[in-house]
Amino acid sequence: MDLKGRVAIVTGGARGIGLAIVEDFIAHGASVVVVDSGVSIAGEPVEPKLAKEVMRNQANAAAICADIAEQGVATEAVELAQERFGGLDIVVNNAAIIRDAFIFKSSLDAWDAVIRTNLTGAHRLLAAATPVMRDATKRGRAPGAVVNLVSSAGIYGNFGQAAYASAKAGLLGLTRVVAHDLARSKIVCNAVAPFAATRVTESIQPASEAQAAYKDKALQVPAHYVARLITFLCTPAAANISGQLFGVRGREVFLFNQPRPASRLIQPHGGYALEAFAQGIKAFEPYYADLATDLEAFSTDPVL
Ligand SMILES: NC(=O)c1ccc[n+]([C@@H]2O[C@H](COP(=O)([O-])OP(=O)(O)OC[C@H]3O[C@@H](n4cnc5c(N)ncnc54)[C@H](O)[C@@H]3O)[C@@H](O)[C@H]2O)c1
Repeated sequence: MDLKGRVAIVTGGARGIGLAIVEDFIAHGASVVVVDSGVSIAGEPVEPKLAKEVMRNQANAAAICADIAEQGVATEAVELAQERFGGLDIVVNNAAIIRDAFIFKSSLDAWDAVIRTNLTGAHRLLAAATPVMRDATKRGRAPGAVVNLVSSAGIYGNFGQAAYASAKAGLLGLTRVVAHDLARSKIVCNAVAPFAATRVTESIQPASEAQAAYKDKALQVPAHYVARLITFLCTPAAANISGQLFGVRGREVFLFNQPRPASRLIQPHGGYALEAFAQGIKAFEPYYADLATDLEAFSTDPVL
């Protein structure tokens, strides 16, 4: 039921939710390689040595102070896990940055930077790690696990979060593909949409009373509940859970359903004329998804 003898890589593990995951992994017997570039929420370099400083006194942890999306860093992390701790079983793609702007004001640089960290970084690490994890399984090591940190913004959408939400929705797509690709090796891959008080929550500038109330509530939600779900998903007890999308907010754990056809319409041969289309498609009306943002959808009081 624990992670004794297991080796993990956690990106963005030097603070916030990532650090809570690292601490919970170590408390349950794992060794961890942390890859963290020590950047601001927007991705500017501010504390380049943070990962080494935070991990200095932590037994069973090693740190790489680098950008996971940079060429060679993922391979360095995989090699360090093998050399220092004797293998690799678990990958947690947690590193992310945020640069928000309404789509009609968005900059190409912001888009590129967010997609690069939040989506390409995860792909880089999985491309380097999964061959090693598969080989280990073939040699008789217990199958490992991948967890990708997504966001309710990528599921519901939110104002001004084009790049962030697209990267997170892409990461959910990547989760499904990795779950399929690794199914034969019995390595599982799941996505978790977290809610927890971190510097990101602190940085929210409320634009209304409702948002101010949301921020007050969000600041009370501790990250260790997110970590515990992720630890569980990496244990043998969760070996049959793969390709799923979870949420966690304080003591609440959510299982999200995933888009499947909600209704079906068959056109006549040659297709509907537009008027007939308008008539026929009325059958979909009860099934349209509302346009609530994630903040609106999760505006209820968290269970603390
Ligand atoms: N806090 C929340 O409520 C919340 C909500 C939804 C999603 N999430 C997701 O949870 C994860 C953790 O969020 P957080 O609030 O702890 O964030 P945070 O900003 O507090 O911490 C992110 C960490 O990632 C590191 N990082 C950023 N880019 C990196 C890169 N390219 N390479 C290596 N390290 C990098 C940063 O240096 C930082 O230490 C993120 O994926 C975030 O999108 C958080």
